Amino acid sequence: MSIVSILERRVEETRKAGRYRNYVSLDRKVDERPWVLEHGESGARRINVWCSNDYLGLSQHPAVIDATVEAVKSVGLGTGGARSISGTSIYHTRLEKEIASAYDKEAALLFATGFTANDATLSTICDTVPDIVAFSDSLNHASMIYGIRYSKAEKKIFRHNDVAHLEELLQAYPVDRPKLIAFESLYSMDGDFAPLKEIVALARKYNAFTYLDEIHAAGIYGATGTGYAEELGVLGEIDIVQGGFGKAYGGAGGYIAGPKAIVDAVRSYAPAFVFSTSSPAPVVAAALASFEYNREHPELRARLLDTVGELKHGLKALGIPVVSDDSHILPILVGDPHRSKEISRRLIDEFGIYVQPVNAPTVPEGTERLRITPTAAHTRQDVEAFLAAIRTVWSDVTTEAAE
Ligand SMILES: Cc1ncc(COP(=O)(O)O)c(C=O)c1O
Repeated sequence: MSIVSILERRVEETRKAGRYRNYVSLDRKVDERPWVLEHGESGARRINVWCSNDYLGLSQHPAVIDATVEAVKSVGLGTGGARSISGTSIYHTRLEKEIASAYDKEAALLFATGFTANDATLSTICDTVPDIVAFSDSLNHASMIYGIRYSKAEKKIFRHNDVAHLEELLQAYPVDRPKLIAFESLYSMDGDFAPLKEIVALARKYNAFTYLDEIHAAGIYGATGTGYAEELGVLGEIDIVQGGFGKAYGGAGGYIAGPKAIVDAVRSYAPAFVFSTSSPAPVVAAALASFEYNREHPELRARLLDTVGELKHGLKALGIPVVSDDSHILPILVGDPHRSKEISRRLIDEFGIYVQPVNAPTVPEGTERLRITPTAAHTRQDVEAFLAAIRTVWSDVTTEAAE
């Protein structure tokens, strides 16, 4: 059998299992967010997006657009090289300083994506430190799993957010053996927060290093918006914080902030960092503008959390099961890939509401869901329209499933 037909057959299996990923091609409009145009065969239609990680609408904010345009006009687009070969612009240097200072860490490092930040940093630490044991939450993002899995380190997976299980695993190793605990502050598919204080206390007790992915919390939580560790007052106890600009900051790219020696090691040894062209300067200028704007405008995050509160309240009143209502991410549990696709299809076709279904392997089979992410741009009217639509579709689809 040819390579092509083997792959075709594999994709066909995915399609039959209801897990094939369809893309909705969106024509976003700066002045109309959260509404966008979708150009289909029967013409264009306006749809309201409820599944974007552009939580604060900063991707289309004038402060961010102006900074991007100014930078592109001033320095052009690509940097022309990897960071060590003419690929470090003044924006890269400024933003790294800004991030290190915001997280009160010795140094920071930028990456083209949040995925690379996790993968490159974790694999560098795990490959470089002899005898290290990595403890990883079972729901960690693929980028952390890849960083740890393909390294030489011994790995231990603790049950999601289960502090007792983590302690049981930590106890099995001598106190002086190097250990790393890798976890997220906000799990984006479940919308729940990690027990940060408890994990930090365990790290102290068992002499472990802490690596925290704040990518979905950064920009939204904490007095200056750096994330959930700041909100809980434990930022100083996190050794390395990872974050990114592709979510609340409305841009693209990832970062780490932590000890200078570790940042130095990653920028010296991680192949994905060393042998790759750095992010275009205007993208970094946009991230810098967005980071600064957000810090100075807490009202933006307050508006988002108000809207989230209204939606939570409405979903609860309708009896619609939400996986967790801890945060600004509200995943509705459907539990079947075909049903989640059907709800999503009806919402967009009948109500112009776009929610992407989340199926395996992104989430475990049987826990398929619709991940609802309100944004600061959604109005009360948008929330009411969403609730009316989900009420109808949910009741039809769940009644059919029960028959
Ligand atoms: C928890 C987590 N970490 C890292 C990433 C990767 O970030 P990026 O999309 O910037 O590559 C994601 C992306 O969805 C994520 O959810």
